[in-house]
Amino acid sequence: RAFDVVVVGSCMTDLVSQAPRLPKAGETIHGHKFFIGFGGKGANQCIQAARLGVKTAMICKVGKDFFGDNYIQNFKDNDVHTDFVWQTSDAATGAASITVNDAGENAIVIVAGANMLLGEEELQQALPAIRKAKVLVCQLEISAQTSFQALQMAHDNKVKTIFNPAPAVPDLDYSFYRVSDVFCCNESEAELLTGYSVNNVENAHHAAQELLRRGCAAVIITLGPQGCVVLKAQDKTSTHVLSTAVKAVDTTGAGDSFIGALTFYMARHPAMPLEEMARKANRVAAVSVQAVGTQTSFPFKQDLPAELF
Ligand code: RIB
Ligand code: NA
Repeated sequence: RAFDVVVVGSCMTDLVSQAPRLPKAGETIHGHKFFIGFGGKGANQCIQAARLGVKTAMICKVGKDFFGDNYIQNFKDNDVHTDFVWQTSDAATGAASITVNDAGENAIVIVAGANMLLGEEELQQALPAIRKAKVLVCQLEISAQTSFQALQMAHDNKVKTIFNPAPAVPDLDYSFYRVSDVFCCNESEAELLTGYSVNNVENAHHAAQELLRRGCAAVIITLGPQGCVVLKAQDKTSTHVLSTAVKAVDTTGAGDSFIGALTFYMARHPAMPLEEMARKANRVAAVSVQAVGTQTSFPFKQDLPAELF
């Protein structure tokens, strides 16, 4: 079977507390709401792509536990193919402790657990699906080596790759850039990777140039309410893609909604200019920040204006 989009990445159970502000070190504060949701950057991106209408498969590992069973059901409910979702009794399903403040900002601690046990053996079993995919997407919430192997397999088979280096590490091996058709990160990740400060459109352009020099075919740096900058290897200068102003309720997973949507456009409309894909993906992500939760806030095709399709 052929899938449009294959995601090799993480699943996390999100344990979310809403509080007026993020606590300081050593501090206890009262929050006003707690809920549990489905998260993990890999799964989030896969589910956003699926909700826009492409055929998706997830390659991942969860625990042989209640959260893992529930997660598999969540994939089925969202039409994500689950033959490459493995369960292990050697580690628990990944978990993310998330605090969201009144401005919709968040701080997250992840314990990757079972995600770290996804490896070469599973990738080999999924190779036929990877080969036939239109787009493969990876992040850094599973072992970096597994992410790299997956990107390399896709690249060797002329499958388009999107790499989201999140959460970012300062010393990311340059081989990751060379297997990335689109290298997509947010401003803080761009800062960590380049050592430049990235807090406005101007210096995002510079950071994008630096990331491109490392060998990827295109760079997107997302800038939250300021949209994103897009830079392609064949162009000299990057483009600032604006986003529409919305009132943020919860920005958790907005970057994943963006990447999921970008993946959808790359799979469904490969000839569309990358800037146009980014503009449309910004609009999808803008919908997600206006509702609480991660996947619970990701729109379906029918929730969005027809001009996005
Ligand atoms: O990008 C948002 C995600 O990061 C959350 O769903 C949480 O699980 C963490 O992985
Ligand atoms: Na949201």
